[in-house]
Amino acid sequence: MEIKGAVLAALEQEKGQFLSGSALAAQLFVSRNAVWKAVKALEEDGHRIQAVTNKGYCLLAESDILSAAAIEKHLGDRAGTFKIEVVKQTTSTNTALKHKAGRGAPEGTVLVAEEQTEGRGRQGRSFYSPDDTGVYFSLLLRPRLSAMDAALITAAAAVAACEAIEAVAGKQASIKWVNDLFVGGKKVCGILTEGAFDMESGGLDYVVVGIGINVALQRGGFPEDLRDVAGALYEGAAPVGVKARLIAEVLKRLWQFYEKLSDKPFLTPYKKRSFLIGQDVDVLAGDKTRKARAMDIDDGCRLIVQYDDGLIDALSSGEVRVRPRKAPSGADKK
Ligand code: BTN
Repeated sequence: MEIKGAVLAALEQEKGQFLSGSALAAQLFVSRNAVWKAVKALEEDGHRIQAVTNKGYCLLAESDILSAAAIEKHLGDRAGTFKIEVVKQTTSTNTALKHKAGRGAPEGTVLVAEEQTEGRGRQGRSFYSPDDTGVYFSLLLRPRLSAMDAALITAAAAVAACEAIEAVAGKQASIKWVNDLFVGGKKVCGILTEGAFDMESGGLDYVVVGIGINVALQRGGFPEDLRDVAGALYEGAAPVGVKARLIAEVLKRLWQFYEKLSDKPFLTPYKKRSFLIGQDVDVLAGDKTRKARAMDIDDGCRLIVQYDDGLIDALSSGEVRVRPRKAPSGADKK
């Protein structure tokens, strides 16, 4: 680890406390001058560090810059599983991580961005990813799975993100099949899973799981076209450290599920949290819409629907919209 990262990790561990320059230098096997230079560089990145003669350096409790060290602090025993990089801005963490995957990056590589300029969603849509108010990150996996089973990773990620949101923000989150997460009737999180095949083995080369969570509401709220559907975990600014904790909690849970993917420990919670089951829906296929009832989710995380003509289908991907319930006849009569 470079000195700057190591100094930040040490200060992050003791956030709000002073660490002497000489203790830091000894711990990291570098000179006090190297520590001082690293602190200056960290301040330039926006970290709020107090330097006091004879006391040393203190990363202020209110300092809230997303960093690998801040995320790793919450990963506990799992910290060694991931190789985390945080960047201020990128086009899309999925796109950038796919490039890294193609160049041989190992499983467990995580790319986090504070802002995405070309954030991508499912079905070729864009994902609104402004600076400061959300977390946008992607995890690289190299599973030995068929493409079919890889779909389970998306379901595992959805449950992991729901549980993380509850653990960190205390908000009940539910899932709209396939992988949209809702809090209070608004979409707060989207997941985009992409993969590449290895032509030689015929199996998957890698899978990139990209997760975007709207943490805080932007000043002025969401753009007009998203206002009705999109929401955030917090109405105002998010408490200090929430972004780093959210990312760590998602990663820990997702990895636990991934290790036992074939046992599908996430399936029951996925079904429990799926709010489409029992609802009248429109199934969208190209420019066609078919009316149906969402009946269940099967063991392959497929949505079982019954169309109005009685035909039953198992959908493994696609888009479904909830149809507003009709008012019971006579409801408008006095
Ligand atoms: C959707 O809602 O359709 C899925 C949105 C997925 C957004 C995340 S943010 C991190 C990663 N990078 C992207 O470009 N997309 C995913």
